[in-house]
Amino acid sequence: MKKTKLKLRLPKGQSLVLVGLMGAGKTCIGRQVAQKFDIPFVDADREIEEAAGCCVADIFELYGESAFRDGERRVIKRLLEGEPCILATGGGAFMNAETRGLIEETGTSLWLKANVDVLIKRTSGRKHRPLLNQGDPAKTLRKLVDERYPVYAQADIIVETRDEPLDATVRRVIKALKD
Ligand code: S3P
Repeated sequence: MKKTKLKLRLPKGQSLVLVGLMGAGKTCIGRQVAQKFDIPFVDADREIEEAAGCCVADIFELYGESAFRDGERRVIKRLLEGEPCILATGGGAFMNAETRGLIEETGTSLWLKANVDVLIKRTSGRKHRPLLNQGDPAKTLRKLVDERYPVYAQADIIVETRDEPLDATVRRVIKALKD
């Protein structure tokens, strides 16, 4: 039987922009939600990598974090000016005031909020995130929670993501979008 696709009605703007810390599940959840609503899914980090011709870890190593942030801001601007989509952003993107302003003007932001233990569990053993590849990753994540959560809290919609199957979070996101 053919599955009927859901209709995504956003309160404002065109794209749904997922924000949240590393390990919150922006990419996995974004991809599934986009499928349900039959709209394109775009991952900002992959787009930055394509534009730079190398992976995020290499951009940090070769050019430094500020060059990455610069590219991140420009790529997200281009994506937000393009076709409506579900856009997963890297954890630092929403911290940039210009990017945040642009998201506010052109899209609907959704914060995937996870507690630090969930983030530690989900990011452990993964080596592609330069900020977690040095020092104590759990300590870094705790620090980032303190710094970033007050800013992420400005998102239009907040959905909790827990230590649970992906489907459960996807359902919660869809419910939040329909409410
Ligand atoms: C970062 C998060 C990463 C990536 C980069 C920096 C951050 O993306 O953009 O390593 O500052 O939180 P994810 O949140 O998708 O892991």
